[in-house]
Amino acid sequence: MQRFMITGGYRLAGTVKVSGSKNATLPIMAASLLLDEKCILRGVPRLRDVEVMRDLLVYLGASVIWEKDVMYIDTQGVGYQDVSEELMRRMRASNLVLGPLISRYRFARISYPGGCDIGSRPMNLHLKGMQAMGVGIKEKFGYITAETEKLKGSEIYLDLPSVGATENIMMAAVLAEGKTVIRNAAREPEIVDLQNFLNCIGARVKGAGTDTIKVVGVDGLNGTDYTVIPDRIEAGTHMVAAAITRGDVVVTNVIPEHLEPVINKLREAGVYVEVKDEQVRVSMDKKPKAIDIKTMPYPGFPTDMQPQFMALTTLAEGTSIISETIFENRYKHVMELRRMGADIRLEGHTAVVKGVPGISGTLVEASDLRAGAALVLAAMASENGTVVDKVDHIDRGYERLENKYNALGARIIRVHN
Ligand code: EPZ
Repeated sequence: MQRFMITGGYRLAGTVKVSGSKNATLPIMAASLLLDEKCILRGVPRLRDVEVMRDLLVYLGASVIWEKDVMYIDTQGVGYQDVSEELMRRMRASNLVLGPLISRYRFARISYPGGCDIGSRPMNLHLKGMQAMGVGIKEKFGYITAETEKLKGSEIYLDLPSVGATENIMMAAVLAEGKTVIRNAAREPEIVDLQNFLNCIGARVKGAGTDTIKVVGVDGLNGTDYTVIPDRIEAGTHMVAAAITRGDVVVTNVIPEHLEPVINKLREAGVYVEVKDEQVRVSMDKKPKAIDIKTMPYPGFPTDMQPQFMALTTLAEGTSIISETIFENRYKHVMELRRMGADIRLEGHTAVVKGVPGISGTLVEASDLRAGAALVLAAMASENGTVVDKVDHIDRGYERLENKYNALGARIIRVHN
């Protein structure tokens, strides 16, 4: 595992460009399995999770050439529909191959992705959707085997707007017979991006971004050349980095409407945020005000920004209340922030964060990618040195984060221990 040695107290200033969205890239890479020809993806971020999905496609028989941020995928050679436990355990989002494999081969076998540090991560809604389309599901020895003679369009209601379940069902429906309607669908921008990709390869999908998505099955699909959207969570992380270090940063390559909940909360905390075309300028010259946050499905406040905002509120004037409603265990960063002197009390799914005059560096450990990012933000605002351990978690969702922040004036050294 690698670690960051961070010297705090330096304000960030300058311009930083956001990379492509991890959570749009992963389902779109999985969707390439629907094709038996080539496609090109552009704006692909150099992330560990994208490497894992690349390895998974290659394991299934695809060929993938990845140069800088362009990925050339050829799925003609795919002849394997069985994903091993070792691969599934590397990344939960590997379960996104279920829909495309079922759609194209009428068979798929994946092992349960297993829980992770933020929650149990069940797949019941994914499987409910498949079963509604006539897929037989067998669960044994930790494996899910999905098989059917024919996929038939169906009307599916999701008990909760699961991002992954919405994506898997969309991909399963594109080659099904007839029409599929997904109700109470997730509305995240990454789902709109998946819809746009699917329509570019000849599918007939509409309604993404609303709570009702309609898919009319087609007979065949074709390759395409597609550019993924920028990463709204990376953008939000940089905006909080500017605020917590009392800096002045222009974040470029953003889609402002994807950042509305983040912009709104930063302004509520007294942070200056200026939106212009595809960039936002964030500056701060005083302590932030306390704010209350409740994570919700999009377009509500994103759970993936909760740890980063908690880091900001540890230094706020007053007490902030943060409620995590999406995942049952997304507070691993609380203990680490406490070690830095933060005053945080957990009451069930609610964190009560009492602002303190300052936090100080120590040895902390990243438990997942967003918690790790939050610790980097806190370290950059702390009064002395911090060691953030297990930064491999951060590399899953951020492209060389230390380079981006050092270019803005931070002092971060990556150490291979
Ligand atoms: C996606 O995960 C994202 N990952 C997550 O980002 C994000 O936090 C999450 O959506 C919520 O926005 C990718 O897109 C690759 P869910 P996903 O299914 O699809 C429960 C990051 O940091 N649920 O919307 O796994 C589940 O337990 C990652 O980039 C069921 O109960 O999230 C959770 O409590 C972390 N049954 C809630 O729904 C199911 O069948 C939301 O999960 C599926 C989910």
